[in-house]
Amino acid sequence: MLPTTPAGIARAGELLRAGALVAFPTETVYGLGGDATDDCAVAAIFAAKGRPQFNPLIAHVADVATAQAWARFDDRALELAHQFWPGPLTLVLPRPADSPLSLLVSAGLDSVAIRVPGHPVAQALLRAAGRPIAAPSANRSGAVSPTTPYHVLESLGDRVDAVVAGGKCAVGVESTVIDLTGPEPVLLRPGAVLPDEMERLIGPIRLSQGDPTAPKSPGQLESHYAPNAAVRLNASSAESDEAFLTFGPDRFVFGGASRLNLSPQGDLNEAAANLFSHLRQLDQSGAGRIAVMPIPDEGLGVAINDRLRRAAAPRP
Ligand code: TXA
Ligand code: MG
Repeated sequence: MLPTTPAGIARAGELLRAGALVAFPTETVYGLGGDATDDCAVAAIFAAKGRPQFNPLIAHVADVATAQAWARFDDRALELAHQFWPGPLTLVLPRPADSPLSLLVSAGLDSVAIRVPGHPVAQALLRAAGRPIAAPSANRSGAVSPTTPYHVLESLGDRVDAVVAGGKCAVGVESTVIDLTGPEPVLLRPGAVLPDEMERLIGPIRLSQGDPTAPKSPGQLESHYAPNAAVRLNASSAESDEAFLTFGPDRFVFGGASRLNLSPQGDLNEAAANLFSHLRQLDQSGAGRIAVMPIPDEGLGVAINDRLRRAAAPRP
């Protein structure tokens, strides 16, 4: 574990430049970082996660100007970048033909996913590293994403060289991913930046969710974000052998061997921030199944329900 002091950040930057894997906080979830221009470092990310090689990674940089060196921005991309960066938005853009970015980052596609995170520790680390950092969520592939440094250690243990310990992530679900490689923008993953906020700037966006058989973004593979326990959605009450993940006032909650509330006030932002840590805790309660109350499918609730559906999907 490295502290978020200038010395800790400098050490993390050194490690990244030397090809090591460093997990670090972003405002969404913890990322498993490696030098995106170093094939060996990127290959090590795939190995540590047990991630399928066809699932490409996001390259993280410190600002819009740097991002423009690594991907081709059109007017729509610039509009979104200026409005939402730094922040929880990832743009999928054409990859320049002569890009020194490792080909593994794009997993053979002619596009690249790029993001400028807003978390001050991520910002400081990207500047210390001085190069784009490939960073998927810092968990084993298909499992629950980490929102604290302890989650990273639980999930990856000594598969990571260092973890920059920056506390709990404020947003709690991964960035919104939008594909701008074609004439029509396509939402590949819902997150905290909402489609209508983007549509105001760039016009209609196609929502590509719900077609698990033909994933454009391999992260759309159906089973994902899965705890060990089975997950049962839209539960109004829980059986005595189930753990219960609830939402809204506790007076409406019945049953469950153990319970955690995503947000007693019914606040979707709070619910998103608690989602992955509550799933992990209920998983550790020993119940074989987690029942989940319905979450309103609006605003950040869309991203929460997207992750919950994948957590509940049949396992391979
Ligand atoms: O919030 C986040 O985005 C976090 C933090 C660490 O930045 N990262 C993250 O990375 O969630 P990951 O690898 O777990 O998810 C990246 C998503 C995947 O669904 C992947 O398939 C998609 O982005 N993706 C990456 N590159 C792509 C590309 N060139 N074309 C289409 N989809 C892409
Ligand atoms: Mg992930």
